[in-house]
Order: sequence, then C-alpha cells, then structure tokens
Amino acid sequence: MRRDSGGDVSDGDVSDGDVSRRAWLEAVCGLVGWVGLQASEIACAPKSPPDKARSGEVAIPLESLAEDRRVMVLVAGNPVEVHRGPEGVVARSLRCTHWGCVVRWKPQERVYLCPCHEGRYDENGAVLEGPPPAPLRAVPVRVAGGVVLVGGAPPARN
Ligand code: FES
Repeated sequence: MRRDSGGDVSDGDVSDGDVSRRAWLEAVCGLVGWVGLQASEIACAPKSPPDKARSGEVAIPLESLAEDRRVMVLVAGNPVEVHRGPEGVVARSLRCTHWGCVVRWKPQERVYLCPCHEGRYDENGAVLEGPPPAPLRAVPVRVAGGVVLVGGAPPARN
C-alpha cells in the first residue's frame, strides 16, 4: 500500500473515477444481459398453442371470456375487441374507420364512442352517427379446443 496525495491507495487499486467507471460498466453490462435474456425469453415463449394457432393469431383461453365479457388484445399491433355474446365469440377492430382513432366501449349506452370526432357505433359495430364511413371491421376469430384464436388470415373459401 502506498500513500498518494493524502489518500490510501493499494497497489493495483484504481482511482475513484476508474472505480465508478468500472461499476457503471458492470451495471450497464448486467442490464444489457438481463434485457437480452428477457427479450430472448419473450421471443422464444409460445404465444399460443403451436399446433393450433395459425401465423398472426392471438390465443386466449375460452374460459377467460365469460358471457358478455369484452377483452382487448393486440393483433399485429392493432387493438381488437373479443366479445362472447349470445351468438358466440366475435372480434372486431377498435380502430375507427374515419381516421383510425381507438374507439371505446360505453357499457351503459351499449355503444362504441370515438374520442376524436365523436363517431358512434352500435354494439355490432354499425355506424350510428358522426363521420365514420364504414362499420368497425370484423376480425377473423375461431374457437378450437377451448382456445379463442383471433386474427390471422380469414378461413379459405371454396
Ligand atoms: S377518427 Fe373516429 S370519428 Fe374521426
């Protein structure tokens, strides 16, 4: 150990600035490694049953969808509502057909309301009033083995 301008410094030790830089680099490397691990787990985790889902489909358990319950999922980055009603499970885009704002379900009025220009849609997605030129878009949905599969390509027609 040697004395250096008033402070104890061991041979091989580094200055306070180097310690800070080392600690900072170790912290950054640790964070980068952790983020990389999380990303690889996300990328590798099956998002839906691989033997049932088609490419681009989002899977949710049917049991999580109680009667008249509406859940929102992202399909290719777009908000889609999945609703289990008396006629079965339906899915529709929550993007307003006017300029694409995300509409909100108002359960008391049983309408979808667009916050941008006050477009209104009925509970089936049909335009009630305002500037939307078309109904909310239907999204392909199917139930297989207790799983609701949303999105993907529509079923082929013969
Ligand atoms: S974007 Fe919805 S009414 Fe204009």
